[in-house]
Amino acid sequence: MRILRKSEWAILIFIIAFSFLPTFGALFRVLEMAGGPAIMPTNPRASAMPVPIVLHILSSFLFLILGALQFPPSIRQRRPAAHRTLGRVVAAAGCLSAGSGLWMTHVYSFPISLQGSLLYWVRITLGLLMIGFIVWAVLAIRSRNAFQHSALMLRAYAIGQGASTQAFIGIGWMILVGTEATGPLRDVLMVSSWAINLLIAEALIWTVLAPRRRSAARAIQKNPLRVEH
Ligand code: HEM
Repeated sequence: MRILRKSEWAILIFIIAFSFLPTFGALFRVLEMAGGPAIMPTNPRASAMPVPIVLHILSSFLFLILGALQFPPSIRQRRPAAHRTLGRVVAAAGCLSAGSGLWMTHVYSFPISLQGSLLYWVRITLGLLMIGFIVWAVLAIRSRNAFQHSALMLRAYAIGQGASTQAFIGIGWMILVGTEATGPLRDVLMVSSWAINLLIAEALIWTVLAPRRRSAARAIQKNPLRVEH
């Protein structure tokens, strides 16, 4: 039996390719911390305090890659137990990713060229929001509110995917302008990446998830014995 439809494969492959740099690419930092070759640009904060960044990279990897598997409706419908088990791992990884991100934001000593007060406060706000959305999403599904659960997880995922959008926008800027963005401009590009992701998430919630919920509700009205997820 084919688990995924063609369109679902396409979306999954797109998400994994989009996430490639901050997930698979970042594993080189972990390799470096474990004594392997230093391929990545130097990060003195990571060398001085490796624990939060290693936790951050590994948990972010799980959140984005396993999280991508939670979106195709076919997996949720045909393998609900797998969706639940993966969901627990994804929720814990998301909280650890945001928690370690908050730890580094506050404790790492950044030069102003890499983190001004705009980026500091946006990281603190979105890190807390990401944890809040995940916890609320878990509570929502325990109350059997599937729409609220999906919408909240999508918002948390959009915050997590900020790292991928930031990588693309940062590289795009370098290609267009010829120099790396630093200082307030860098802060603005980083924050804009999160804003773009959250806008896309809202658009998906109201154009894809909400109509799906309405048609499921209509189907249940016609046949009250049918259970939708
Ligand atoms: C789940 C999605 C996320 C991914 C994939 C991700 C990815 C990464 C990666 C790959 C690094 C390491 C950079 C390096 O090796 O130098 C990093 C560092 C960092 N991340 Fe995240 N991140 C995510 C979420 C977050 C969130 C939500 C926050 C804010 C609370 C955050 C704050 C940070 C900070 C402060 C650093 C340290 C940067 C440095 O030392 O230059 N991250 N992230």
